[in-house]
Amino acid sequence: MSETDSPSAVHLFGDARLSLAGGVTAGLRWHPYLSRPFYVSRAEGPYLYDLEGRRYLDFNMANGAVLLGHGHPAVCEAVQAGLAAGVLTASETEHHVRLAATLCRVIPCAERVRFAVTGTEAALVALRLARHATGRRKFLVFAGHFHGLAEPFLFRPSQPGGDGPPLPASGGVPSAYGEDVVIVPWNDPDALDRALTRQRGELAAAICEPVHYNAGCIPPQPGFLAYLRQRTREEGIVLIFDEVLSGFRMALGGAQAYYGVTPDLCTLAKAVANGLPMAVLCGRTDLMEQLSPGGPVAQSGTYSGQLLSVLAARATLEALRAPGVYEELGRRAERFYGELQSIFDRAGVPARVQGLGARFGLYFGRRKPVVTWAEAVACDQSLHRRFVLGCLRRGLFFHAYVSLPGHAGFSLAHDDGCLDEALTVIEDVARELARQEEA
Ligand SMILES: Cc1ncc(COP(=O)(O)O)c(C=O)c1O
Repeated sequence: MSETDSPSAVHLFGDARLSLAGGVTAGLRWHPYLSRPFYVSRAEGPYLYDLEGRRYLDFNMANGAVLLGHGHPAVCEAVQAGLAAGVLTASETEHHVRLAATLCRVIPCAERVRFAVTGTEAALVALRLARHATGRRKFLVFAGHFHGLAEPFLFRPSQPGGDGPPLPASGGVPSAYGEDVVIVPWNDPDALDRALTRQRGELAAAICEPVHYNAGCIPPQPGFLAYLRQRTREEGIVLIFDEVLSGFRMALGGAQAYYGVTPDLCTLAKAVANGLPMAVLCGRTDLMEQLSPGGPVAQSGTYSGQLLSVLAARATLEALRAPGVYEELGRRAERFYGELQSIFDRAGVPARVQGLGARFGLYFGRRKPVVTWAEAVACDQSLHRRFVLGCLRRGLFFHAYVSLPGHAGFSLAHDDGCLDEALTVIEDVARELARQEEA
Protein backbone atom coordinates (compact mmCIF):
# COMPACT_ATOMS: atom_id res chain seq x y z
CA MET A 1 0.00 0.00 0.00
CA SER A 2 1.18 3.53 -0.67
CA GLU A 3 -0.07 7.09 -0.48
CA THR A 4 -1.94 6.55 -3.72
CA ASP A 5 -4.45 4.32 -1.90
CA SER A 6 -4.05 5.43 1.71
CA PRO A 7 -7.26 4.81 3.73
CA SER A 8 -6.31 7.54 6.24
CA ALA A 9 -5.94 10.07 3.43
CA VAL A 10 -9.22 9.05 1.82
CA HIS A 11 -10.97 9.29 5.18
CA LEU A 12 -9.45 12.70 6.00
CA PHE A 13 -10.41 14.04 2.61
CA GLY A 14 -13.98 12.92 3.29
CA ASP A 15 -13.93 15.01 6.48
CA ALA A 16 -12.21 17.90 4.69
CA ARG A 17 -14.99 18.15 2.14
CA LEU A 18 -17.49 18.80 4.92
CA SER A 19 -15.83 22.06 5.95
CA LEU A 20 -13.26 23.16 3.37
CA ALA A 21 -14.38 24.45 -0.01
CA GLY A 22 -13.50 21.69 -2.45
CA GLY A 23 -11.83 19.86 0.46
CA VAL A 24 -8.65 21.96 0.29
CA THR A 25 -7.28 25.02 2.08
CA ALA A 26 -5.95 26.48 -1.20
CA GLY A 27 -6.73 25.59 -4.80
CA LEU A 28 -3.21 24.52 -5.75
CA ARG A 29 -2.96 22.03 -2.86
CA TRP A 30 -5.22 19.79 -4.90
CA HIS A 31 -3.14 17.01 -6.43
CA PRO A 32 -4.87 16.35 -9.75
CA TYR A 33 -3.49 12.81 -10.05
CA LEU A 34 -4.63 11.79 -6.54
CA SER A 35 -7.91 13.73 -6.84
CA ARG A 36 -7.27 15.02 -3.32
CA PRO A 37 -4.37 16.68 -1.48
CA PHE A 38 -1.22 14.78 -0.59
CA TYR A 39 -1.58 14.78 3.19
CA VAL A 40 1.57 15.17 5.23
CA SER A 41 2.12 14.57 8.93
CA ARG A 42 5.61 16.06 9.18
CA ALA A 43 8.75 16.93 7.24
CA GLU A 44 12.46 16.73 7.89
CA GLY A 45 15.39 17.70 5.65
CA PRO A 46 14.61 16.34 2.16
CA TYR A 47 11.74 14.12 3.37
CA LEU A 48 7.97 14.32 3.85
CA TYR A 49 6.03 11.80 5.94
CA ASP A 50 2.45 10.86 5.10
CA LEU A 51 -0.38 10.14 7.54
CA GLU A 52 0.79 6.56 7.99
CA GLY A 53 4.35 7.74 8.68
CA ARG A 54 5.73 6.57 5.31
CA ARG A 55 8.73 8.56 4.11
CA TYR A 56 8.93 10.33 0.73
CA LEU A 57 11.87 12.07 -0.84
CA ASP A 58 10.39 15.46 -1.64
CA PHE A 59 10.83 16.98 -5.09
CA ASN A 60 8.37 19.78 -4.53
CA MET A 61 9.92 21.39 -1.46
CA ALA A 62 6.90 23.48 -0.55
CA ASN A 63 6.44 24.71 -4.13
CA GLY A 64 10.00 25.99 -3.92
CA ALA A 65 9.64 27.78 -0.58
CA VAL A 66 12.20 25.53 1.10
CA LEU A 67 15.76 25.54 -0.24
CA LEU A 68 17.81 24.60 2.84
CA GLY A 69 15.67 21.55 3.63
CA HIS A 70 12.56 21.14 5.79
CA GLY A 71 12.90 22.18 9.42
CA HIS A 72 16.44 23.47 8.95
CA PRO A 73 17.97 23.66 12.47
CA ALA A 74 19.23 27.27 12.16
CA VAL A 75 15.85 28.44 10.85
CA CYS A 76 13.98 26.61 13.61
CA GLU A 77 16.31 28.12 16.20
CA ALA A 78 15.69 31.60 14.77
CA VAL A 79 11.92 31.08 14.95
CA GLN A 80 12.25 29.88 18.55
CA ALA A 81 14.09 33.11 19.35
CA GLY A 82 11.20 35.06 17.81
CA LEU A 83 8.69 33.15 19.93
CA ALA A 84 10.76 33.91 23.03
CA ALA A 85 10.78 37.61 22.04
CA GLY A 86 6.99 37.66 22.12
CA VAL A 87 6.21 36.89 18.44
CA LEU A 88 6.10 40.63 17.63
CA THR A 89 3.71 41.30 14.80
CA ALA A 90 3.51 44.83 13.31
CA SER A 91 6.67 45.99 15.09
CA GLU A 92 10.03 47.12 13.76
CA THR A 93 13.16 45.61 15.30
CA GLU A 94 16.87 45.66 14.74
CA HIS A 95 16.46 42.38 12.82
CA HIS A 96 14.37 44.10 10.15
CA VAL A 97 17.09 46.67 9.57
CA ARG A 98 19.86 44.06 9.45
CA LEU A 99 17.93 41.83 7.07
CA ALA A 100 17.27 44.75 4.71
CA ALA A 101 20.98 45.63 4.75
CA THR A 102 21.92 42.05 3.87
CA LEU A 103 19.45 42.01 0.99
CA CYS A 104 20.91 45.28 -0.32
CA ARG A 105 24.32 43.63 -0.30
CA VAL A 106 23.33 40.42 -2.09
CA ILE A 107 20.57 41.40 -4.57
CA PRO A 108 22.01 43.54 -7.39
CA CYS A 109 18.95 45.80 -7.92
CA ALA A 110 18.27 46.26 -4.19
CA GLU A 111 19.08 49.81 -3.19
CA ARG A 112 16.02 49.96 -0.94
CA VAL A 113 13.86 47.14 0.45
CA ARG A 114 10.33 46.59 1.78
CA PHE A 115 8.85 43.46 3.32
CA ALA A 116 5.51 41.88 2.49
CA VAL A 117 3.88 38.53 3.18
CA THR A 118 3.25 37.00 -0.25
CA GLY A 119 4.83 37.19 -3.66
CA THR A 120 1.46 38.24 -5.06
CA GLU A 121 1.31 41.25 -2.77
CA ALA A 122 4.89 42.27 -3.64
CA ALA A 123 4.10 42.07 -7.38
CA LEU A 124 0.99 44.23 -6.93
CA VAL A 125 3.00 46.91 -5.14
CA ALA A 126 5.75 46.75 -7.79
CA LEU A 127 3.13 47.37 -10.47
CA ARG A 128 1.58 50.20 -8.43
CA LEU A 129 5.01 51.85 -8.08
CA ALA A 130 5.67 51.54 -11.82
CA ARG A 131 2.30 53.07 -12.67
CA HIS A 132 2.91 55.96 -10.32
CA ALA A 133 6.44 56.57 -11.59
CA THR A 134 5.48 56.55 -15.27
CA GLY A 135 1.93 57.93 -15.13
CA ARG A 136 0.97 55.02 -17.43
CA ARG A 137 -1.54 52.24 -16.86
CA LYS A 138 -0.74 49.30 -19.13
CA PHE A 139 1.89 46.66 -18.47
CA LEU A 140 3.57 43.87 -20.38
CA VAL A 141 3.69 40.26 -19.22
CA PHE A 142 5.02 37.11 -20.85
CA ALA A 143 2.75 34.23 -21.83
CA GLY A 144 2.44 31.70 -19.02
CA HIS A 145 4.57 33.64 -16.52
CA PHE A 146 3.00 33.53 -13.07
CA HIS A 147 2.88 36.48 -10.72
CA GLY A 148 0.19 35.38 -8.29
CA LEU A 149 -3.58 35.09 -8.27
CA ALA A 150 -4.43 38.79 -8.23
CA GLU A 151 -6.61 40.59 -10.76
CA PRO A 152 -3.93 42.25 -12.93
CA PHE A 153 -2.13 38.94 -13.37
CA LEU A 154 -5.15 36.71 -13.94
CA PHE A 155 -5.07 36.89 -17.71
CA ARG A 156 -3.95 34.40 -20.31
CA PRO A 157 -3.32 34.83 -24.01
CA SER A 158 -6.20 33.89 -26.26
CA GLN A 159 -3.70 32.12 -28.55
CA PRO A 160 -1.22 29.62 -27.03
CA GLY A 161 1.63 31.48 -28.75
CA GLY A 162 0.87 34.55 -26.68
CA ASP A 163 -0.85 36.63 -29.34
CA GLY A 164 -4.41 37.92 -29.34
CA PRO A 165 -6.37 39.83 -26.69
CA PRO A 166 -5.90 38.63 -23.11
CA LEU A 167 -8.69 36.53 -21.62
CA PRO A 168 -9.53 36.34 -17.89
CA ALA A 169 -7.92 33.27 -16.33
CA SER A 170 -10.44 33.15 -13.47
CA GLY A 171 -14.10 33.70 -12.87
CA GLY A 172 -14.84 37.07 -11.31
CA VAL A 173 -12.12 38.95 -13.18
CA PRO A 174 -13.68 41.65 -15.36
CA SER A 175 -12.47 41.23 -18.92
CA ALA A 176 -12.15 45.04 -19.12
CA TYR A 177 -9.10 44.79 -16.81
CA GLY A 178 -7.44 42.93 -19.67
CA GLU A 179 -7.28 46.20 -21.61
CA ASP A 180 -4.28 47.09 -19.43
CA VAL A 181 -2.48 43.82 -20.12
CA VAL A 182 -0.18 43.18 -23.08
CA ILE A 183 0.95 39.55 -23.35
CA VAL A 184 3.93 38.54 -25.48
CA PRO A 185 5.68 35.18 -25.92
CA TRP A 186 8.84 34.58 -23.87
CA ASN A 187 12.17 34.38 -25.67
CA ASP A 188 10.87 36.16 -28.78
CA PRO A 189 12.68 39.48 -29.26
CA ASP A 190 10.73 40.30 -32.45
CA ALA A 191 7.36 39.87 -30.73
CA LEU A 192 8.65 41.97 -27.86
CA ASP A 193 9.72 44.70 -30.25
CA ARG A 194 6.39 44.69 -32.06
CA ALA A 195 4.51 45.04 -28.75
CA LEU A 196 6.77 47.84 -27.53
CA THR A 197 6.34 49.74 -30.78
CA ARG A 198 2.57 49.26 -30.83
CA GLN A 199 2.24 50.35 -27.18
CA ARG A 200 4.81 53.18 -27.25
CA GLY A 201 4.25 55.63 -24.40
CA GLU A 202 1.55 53.47 -22.79
CA LEU A 203 3.42 50.78 -20.84
CA ALA A 204 4.26 51.42 -17.18
CA ALA A 205 6.04 48.13 -16.57
CA ALA A 206 7.30 44.92 -18.04
CA ILE A 207 7.27 42.02 -15.57
CA CYS A 208 8.80 38.59 -16.08
CA GLU A 209 10.10 35.52 -14.33
CA PRO A 210 13.72 35.84 -15.46
CA VAL A 211 13.82 32.05 -15.57
CA HIS A 212 10.38 30.76 -16.46
CA TYR A 213 10.18 28.16 -13.70
CA ASN A 214 6.39 28.17 -13.62
CA ALA A 215 6.59 26.40 -16.97
CA GLY A 216 9.07 23.87 -15.56
CA CYS A 217 12.34 25.58 -16.33
CA ILE A 218 12.66 27.75 -19.42
CA PRO A 219 15.78 29.87 -19.14
CA PRO A 220 16.03 33.07 -21.17
CA GLN A 221 17.66 32.51 -24.56
CA PRO A 222 21.18 34.01 -24.69
CA GLY A 223 20.87 37.80 -24.84
CA PHE A 224 17.10 37.92 -24.32
CA LEU A 225 17.17 39.41 -20.80
CA ALA A 226 19.79 41.98 -21.82
CA TYR A 227 17.63 42.92 -24.80
CA LEU A 228 14.57 43.25 -22.57
CA ARG A 229 16.61 45.48 -20.25
CA GLN A 230 17.84 47.65 -23.10
CA ARG A 231 14.45 48.07 -24.79
CA THR A 232 12.52 48.79 -21.57
CA ARG A 233 15.10 51.44 -20.66
CA GLU A 234 14.78 53.02 -24.12
CA GLU A 235 10.99 53.10 -23.80
CA GLY A 236 10.92 54.45 -20.22
CA ILE A 237 9.30 51.27 -18.92
CA VAL A 238 9.97 49.98 -15.40
CA LEU A 239 11.48 46.49 -15.63
CA ILE A 240 10.33 44.17 -12.83
CA PHE A 241 11.93 40.77 -12.27
CA ASP A 242 9.64 38.46 -10.36
CA GLU A 243 12.27 36.38 -8.56
CA VAL A 244 9.80 34.67 -6.25
CA LEU A 245 11.00 31.31 -7.63
CA SER A 246 14.33 32.21 -9.21
CA GLY A 247 15.61 34.15 -6.18
CA PHE A 248 18.52 32.34 -4.44
CA ARG A 249 17.87 29.34 -6.70
CA MET A 250 21.06 29.30 -8.78
CA ALA A 251 23.01 32.20 -7.26
CA LEU A 252 22.78 34.18 -4.03
CA GLY A 253 21.80 37.25 -6.03
CA GLY A 254 19.19 35.30 -8.02
CA ALA A 255 18.76 35.27 -11.78
CA GLN A 256 19.71 38.94 -12.05
CA ALA A 257 23.15 38.16 -10.62
CA TYR A 258 23.47 34.93 -12.61
CA TYR A 259 22.69 36.61 -15.95
CA GLY A 260 24.21 39.99 -15.08
CA VAL A 261 21.03 41.91 -15.95
CA THR A 262 19.71 44.31 -13.31
CA PRO A 263 16.01 45.21 -13.27
CA ASP A 264 14.54 48.39 -11.77
CA LEU A 265 12.47 46.47 -9.23
CA CYS A 266 12.35 42.89 -8.12
CA THR A 267 10.18 40.69 -5.96
CA LEU A 268 11.44 37.83 -3.81
CA ALA A 269 9.59 35.31 -1.63
CA LYS A 270 9.63 31.52 -1.12
CA ALA A 271 13.28 30.55 -0.51
CA VAL A 272 14.07 33.84 1.25
CA ALA A 273 12.69 32.59 4.59
CA ASN A 274 12.94 28.83 3.96
CA GLY A 275 9.24 28.13 4.42
CA LEU A 276 8.10 31.00 6.63
CA PRO A 277 5.69 33.47 4.95
CA MET A 278 7.76 36.35 3.68
CA ALA A 279 8.12 38.41 0.52
CA VAL A 280 10.41 41.25 -0.41
CA LEU A 281 10.08 44.14 -2.83
CA CYS A 282 13.33 45.86 -3.64
CA GLY A 283 14.83 48.10 -6.26
CA ARG A 284 16.07 51.52 -7.27
CA THR A 285 16.05 54.17 -4.56
CA ASP A 286 14.16 56.77 -6.63
CA LEU A 287 11.33 54.30 -7.21
CA MET A 288 11.25 52.71 -3.77
CA GLU A 289 11.26 56.12 -2.03
CA GLN A 290 7.88 56.77 -3.67
CA LEU A 291 6.40 54.32 -1.16
CA SER A 292 4.56 55.81 1.81
CA PRO A 293 5.43 57.54 4.08
CA GLY A 294 8.08 59.24 1.90
CA GLY A 295 5.92 59.16 -1.23
CA PRO A 296 2.28 58.71 -2.22
CA VAL A 297 2.33 54.99 -3.11
CA ALA A 298 0.61 52.82 -0.49
CA GLN A 299 2.37 49.77 0.93
CA SER A 300 1.95 48.31 4.40
CA GLY A 301 0.30 45.37 6.14
CA THR A 302 -0.21 44.04 9.64
CA TYR A 303 1.98 41.03 8.90
CA SER A 304 4.57 42.76 6.68
CA GLY A 305 7.90 41.85 8.22
CA GLN A 306 6.45 39.54 10.87
CA LEU A 307 9.35 38.87 13.23
CA LEU A 308 9.34 35.06 12.94
CA SER A 309 9.71 35.36 9.17
CA VAL A 310 12.34 38.08 9.42
CA LEU A 311 14.41 35.96 11.78
CA ALA A 312 13.94 32.92 9.56
CA ALA A 313 15.12 34.98 6.58
CA ARG A 314 18.20 36.17 8.45
CA ALA A 315 19.11 32.59 9.32
CA THR A 316 18.39 31.43 5.77
CA LEU A 317 20.58 34.08 4.18
CA GLU A 318 23.37 33.35 6.60
CA ALA A 319 23.26 29.68 5.61
CA LEU A 320 23.11 30.52 1.89
CA ARG A 321 26.06 32.93 2.19
CA ALA A 322 28.38 30.24 3.55
CA PRO A 323 31.35 29.66 1.25
CA GLY A 324 30.87 27.07 -1.46
CA VAL A 325 27.06 26.72 -1.16
CA TYR A 326 26.28 27.65 -4.75
CA GLU A 327 29.23 25.74 -6.21
CA GLU A 328 27.93 22.63 -4.44
CA LEU A 329 24.33 23.29 -5.44
CA GLY A 330 25.37 23.77 -9.06
CA ARG A 331 27.43 20.56 -9.02
CA ARG A 332 24.56 18.50 -7.64
CA ALA A 333 22.11 20.07 -10.08
CA GLU A 334 24.26 19.40 -13.12
CA ARG A 335 24.91 15.78 -12.16
CA PHE A 336 21.29 15.07 -11.22
CA TYR A 337 19.73 16.59 -14.33
CA GLY A 338 22.34 14.96 -16.58
CA GLU A 339 21.73 11.51 -15.08
CA LEU A 340 17.97 11.97 -15.14
CA GLN A 341 18.10 12.73 -18.85
CA SER A 342 20.31 9.67 -19.46
CA ILE A 343 17.82 7.45 -17.62
CA PHE A 344 14.93 8.55 -19.83
CA ASP A 345 17.08 8.25 -22.96
CA ARG A 346 18.30 4.75 -22.04
CA ALA A 347 14.76 3.58 -21.27
CA GLY A 348 13.48 5.08 -24.52
CA VAL A 349 11.01 7.34 -22.72
CA PRO A 350 10.48 10.59 -24.60
CA ALA A 351 11.24 13.18 -21.94
CA ARG A 352 13.25 16.35 -21.76
CA VAL A 353 14.84 17.44 -18.47
CA GLN A 354 15.57 21.16 -18.06
CA GLY A 355 16.93 22.56 -14.85
CA LEU A 356 18.86 25.50 -13.53
CA GLY A 357 20.04 25.59 -9.94
CA ALA A 358 17.70 23.82 -7.58
CA ARG A 359 14.57 23.77 -9.78
CA PHE A 360 13.70 21.83 -12.87
CA GLY A 361 11.01 20.88 -15.33
CA LEU A 362 10.19 17.48 -16.82
CA TYR A 363 8.66 17.62 -20.28
CA PHE A 364 7.23 14.27 -21.28
CA GLY A 365 6.60 13.47 -24.93
CA ARG A 366 9.38 15.82 -26.01
CA ARG A 367 13.08 15.43 -26.77
CA LYS A 368 13.95 18.88 -28.14
CA PRO A 369 14.67 21.89 -25.90
CA VAL A 370 11.61 23.71 -24.60
CA VAL A 371 11.95 27.42 -25.31
CA THR A 372 8.39 28.71 -25.16
CA TRP A 373 5.37 28.28 -22.93
CA ALA A 374 3.33 26.92 -25.84
CA GLU A 375 5.86 24.07 -26.17
CA ALA A 376 5.80 23.45 -22.41
CA VAL A 377 2.03 23.09 -22.17
CA ALA A 378 1.93 20.77 -25.17
CA CYS A 379 3.79 18.02 -23.29
CA ASP A 380 2.28 14.57 -22.71
CA GLN A 381 0.01 14.68 -19.65
CA SER A 382 -0.69 10.96 -19.62
CA LEU A 383 3.04 10.13 -19.38
CA HIS A 384 3.51 12.84 -16.75
CA ARG A 385 0.67 11.38 -14.69
CA ARG A 386 2.05 7.84 -14.86
CA PHE A 387 5.51 9.11 -13.96
CA VAL A 388 4.30 11.08 -10.92
CA LEU A 389 2.15 8.21 -9.62
CA GLY A 390 4.89 5.64 -10.30
CA CYS A 391 7.32 7.75 -8.26
CA LEU A 392 4.81 8.25 -5.46
CA ARG A 393 4.27 4.49 -5.11
CA ARG A 394 8.03 4.12 -4.72
CA GLY A 395 8.52 6.94 -2.20
CA LEU A 396 9.32 10.01 -4.34
CA PHE A 397 6.97 12.96 -4.15
CA PHE A 398 6.39 15.23 -7.14
CA HIS A 399 3.56 17.73 -6.91
CA ALA A 400 1.35 17.99 -9.97
CA TYR A 401 -0.20 21.28 -10.88
CA VAL A 402 -3.62 21.47 -12.46
CA SER A 403 -2.08 23.09 -15.51
CA LEU A 404 1.00 21.47 -16.97
CA PRO A 405 3.89 21.28 -16.73
CA GLY A 406 4.44 22.60 -13.19
CA HIS A 407 7.86 22.67 -11.60
CA ALA A 408 9.93 20.45 -9.35
CA GLY A 409 12.98 21.03 -7.23
CA PHE A 410 15.42 19.79 -4.67
CA SER A 411 17.08 21.39 -1.66
CA LEU A 412 20.51 21.61 -0.11
CA ALA A 413 19.40 18.76 2.17
CA HIS A 414 19.27 16.49 -0.90
CA ASP A 415 22.83 15.21 -0.73
CA ASP A 416 24.39 12.88 -3.29
CA GLY A 417 23.01 9.84 -1.43
CA CYS A 418 19.42 11.17 -1.67
CA LEU A 419 19.81 12.07 -5.30
CA ASP A 420 21.25 8.63 -6.11
CA GLU A 421 18.31 7.04 -4.27
CA ALA A 422 15.96 9.10 -6.46
CA LEU A 423 17.82 8.17 -9.65
CA THR A 424 17.52 4.46 -8.84
CA VAL A 425 13.78 4.80 -8.28
CA ILE A 426 13.29 6.89 -11.41
CA GLU A 427 15.19 4.31 -13.48
CA ASP A 428 12.66 1.73 -12.33
CA VAL A 429 9.73 4.04 -13.12
CA ALA A 430 11.19 4.87 -16.54
CA ARG A 431 11.46 1.15 -17.40
CA GLU A 432 7.85 0.68 -16.33
CA LEU A 433 6.76 3.60 -18.54
CA ALA A 434 8.70 2.14 -21.46
CA ARG A 435 7.01 -1.24 -20.98
CA GLN A 436 3.58 0.43 -20.88
CA GLU A 437 4.37 2.33 -24.08
CA GLU A 438 5.34 -0.92 -25.84
CA ALA A 439 2.20 -2.79 -24.70
C1 LIG B 1 7.09 33.55 -9.93
C2 LIG B 1 6.01 33.69 -8.91
N1 LIG B 1 5.53 34.90 -8.62
C3 LIG B 1 4.58 35.10 -7.71
C4 LIG B 1 4.05 34.05 -7.02
C5 LIG B 1 2.99 34.27 -5.98
O1 LIG B 1 3.59 34.16 -4.73
P1 LIG B 1 2.69 33.84 -3.44
O2 LIG B 1 2.15 32.48 -3.62
O3 LIG B 1 3.65 33.99 -2.29
O4 LIG B 1 1.62 34.89 -3.43
C6 LIG B 1 4.52 32.75 -7.27
C7 LIG B 1 3.96 31.60 -6.56
O5 LIG B 1 4.15 30.47 -6.87
C8 LIG B 1 5.52 32.57 -8.25
O6 LIG B 1 6.00 31.35 -8.55
